[in-house]
Amino acid sequence: MTEQELKHLLQSMSLEEKVGQMVQVTGAFLEEDAVITGPAADAGLELSDCKLAGSILGIAGAKRLRKIQERYMEEHPHHIPLLMMADVIHGYRTVFPIPLALGASFHPELVEKAMTMAAAEAASAGLHVTFSPMTDLVRDPRWGRVLESFGESPWLDARMAEAYVRGYQGPDNDLSRPGRLSACDKHFVGYGAPVAGREYNHAELSEHTLREFHLPAKIAAIRAGTACVMPAFQSLNGVPCTASEKIVRNLLRDELGFEGVTISDWSAVGELVAQGAAENTREAAKLAIEAGIDIDMMSVCYARELKGLVESGEVEERLVDEAVWRILTLKNRLGLFEDPFHGAGVQEEKRTVLCEKHRDLARSLVAESVILLKNEDAVLPLDSGSRTAFIGPYVDSTDTCGSWAIFQNREDTVTLRRGVTEGGYGANAVFCHGCDVLENTRVLGFGVEEVFGQSENRDEWIREALQAAKEADRVVMALGEHTLQSGEAASRGDITIPHQQMELLRQISAVNPNVVTVVYSGRPLDLREVSACSKAVLAVFLPGTMGGAGIADVLFGRTSPGGRVSISFPWSVAQVPVYHDDYTTGRPYDPAGAEQKFVSRYLDMPNEPLYSFGYGLTYGIFRYSPVRLSAGSMGQGQILTASVTVKNEGSMAAKETVQLYLRDEKGTTVRPRRELKGVKCLYLQPGEEGEAVFEITEDLLKIWDKHMNFLAEPGWFTIYVGGDSRTENSARFRYEG
Ligand code: BGC
Repeated sequence: MTEQELKHLLQSMSLEEKVGQMVQVTGAFLEEDAVITGPAADAGLELSDCKLAGSILGIAGAKRLRKIQERYMEEHPHHIPLLMMADVIHGYRTVFPIPLALGASFHPELVEKAMTMAAAEAASAGLHVTFSPMTDLVRDPRWGRVLESFGESPWLDARMAEAYVRGYQGPDNDLSRPGRLSACDKHFVGYGAPVAGREYNHAELSEHTLREFHLPAKIAAIRAGTACVMPAFQSLNGVPCTASEKIVRNLLRDELGFEGVTISDWSAVGELVAQGAAENTREAAKLAIEAGIDIDMMSVCYARELKGLVESGEVEERLVDEAVWRILTLKNRLGLFEDPFHGAGVQEEKRTVLCEKHRDLARSLVAESVILLKNEDAVLPLDSGSRTAFIGPYVDSTDTCGSWAIFQNREDTVTLRRGVTEGGYGANAVFCHGCDVLENTRVLGFGVEEVFGQSENRDEWIREALQAAKEADRVVMALGEHTLQSGEAASRGDITIPHQQMELLRQISAVNPNVVTVVYSGRPLDLREVSACSKAVLAVFLPGTMGGAGIADVLFGRTSPGGRVSISFPWSVAQVPVYHDDYTTGRPYDPAGAEQKFVSRYLDMPNEPLYSFGYGLTYGIFRYSPVRLSAGSMGQGQILTASVTVKNEGSMAAKETVQLYLRDEKGTTVRPRRELKGVKCLYLQPGEEGEAVFEITEDLLKIWDKHMNFLAEPGWFTIYVGGDSRTENSARFRYEG
């Protein structure tokens, strides 16, 4: 449709129709046999509220969505197509490792490829918009949604945000092409910093912290062209984001220049009443539209109140028109007026979903993202000639995709046992269940409470596991959190592996010292005891559809583990938040120095996490040359290069994740000890050398100064280049300004 035609369409719509465009309900409401139950009924929505809704969420499938679209368009007064939205967070049916693991790959180019595939699958199944990426910076592993984040570094977070948006929308941002999805960057802003890590709690971020740490990834997503943004549920510095003109209208739109569609989070407009920000749904609707929320997801506020608010003059119709214009523009960009199905179809879906290419990339992304945290006596890689006992509840589990993989089929998941046997590694392997993931616990799932009892086979499982461990040369323990223990509404205060699994690990390690523990989790766990009981520890997060295959490849040395810690694994939850780019203090603690009292430290635990940012072992042995700088100083607009030569002196091919950190030695605001500012992944054969070259631009040096200007301040900088955030391989230069 031309812009002129779109304008005519808007002008010809009734107020009721326009308000309809601003309402989003679950897809099930628009099906022929729709009945309203569950959370929707709780929200008070009725079928009459949904008739003209301009978008739906949460369901997929080409056949199902085509039927809904056809029926809806036929009945709609102007035959305007619906927008189909859903959470496709790390893959549609081919589920890639969770975003936290993708962050650990430190490899945005591969992540972009994965999201291109996710978009192709989801679009073939009828979806137009995905509520992704989640670019909330997280430094508190108690918060369950850490699984959806890329980790603790604003720089890495920003690169992943761009990769996600480019993957979904294509490098040219042409949404009309088949296989493209519109991205929706979320949650704007501060949702990743709930006080005390408790879900939905408010966030307190100073202007400086917000801009320095939390906004860079949001800005990256906007610059990459994200078509939608979802303002956050929670309050930031006392005001719910959904009702904040300062956050949505002033910051997001006016300052950052976002011109696309804003969508509230699930029932967030209605929740303004519970938050004490609005007296009733009418006031909530008024606050939200004034703040700049275009679409109200799953609350009655816009559907019931907006028309009356405009008719009474309390809300200017101009605000409605502006919002509807943005929504219609998105529909038009997607080409829905020409093809309301956007290329979706049963044949296309069959051809695309779970195809070999997608499964292959998912498998290699597992190897790229698992982190080898410990490998004493080179117990890994395993030799398939020796006897290996695989023990634990994750040996046969298909529940390894995470709670946001809502379109997965569990049967598609390759378990660890299947990965080992189908990979050809299983000649001398035995497999035991050992124990359940959870025991004597209740966990709230999606609308249902899951009760985990104590199996009557428990003692038998343990006996069998101990026997297998005694007879084996090596034991692989497959342990971890339950998938319901991470994700939305899954904050934990105790971030350890459930107790009966730990008990099993203690018993097994007492009969066989050669234990390799594979840890499944949606967050960095407290692994102190796991590490003490194991010779090797491999963190695999929730590895997705091809998890078992990719993990087996790493365990048996077909591929070297490629992941690096993208969020610190704390020594204890009491250190949280603990991260690599904390500010310098006037009384720094030097653990290598003599005992010091009046310094910034704990009396009863280390300052440093158990596994710090950027850390991760491989099967290679890498030697770094000193850092070479192209010059000792740089002036305005100039670019320096920093380079290193890296040699694989080991006997196996491996990926080395070369990281560049920057330290601004003096600033008008205190500066982080060091900050990640660059990554190059080198894949080196034994004996091979590679070069990593980084460009240092003025932009990389910019900080928020004491007057809240974003600029590079003249002075000395140290560049560190190495294999993790603690490297001392460094060089200095001066920025002259
Ligand atoms: C989450 C969002 C998600 C939405 C729709 C909410 O509960 O916070 O991230 O996109 O539901 O499923």
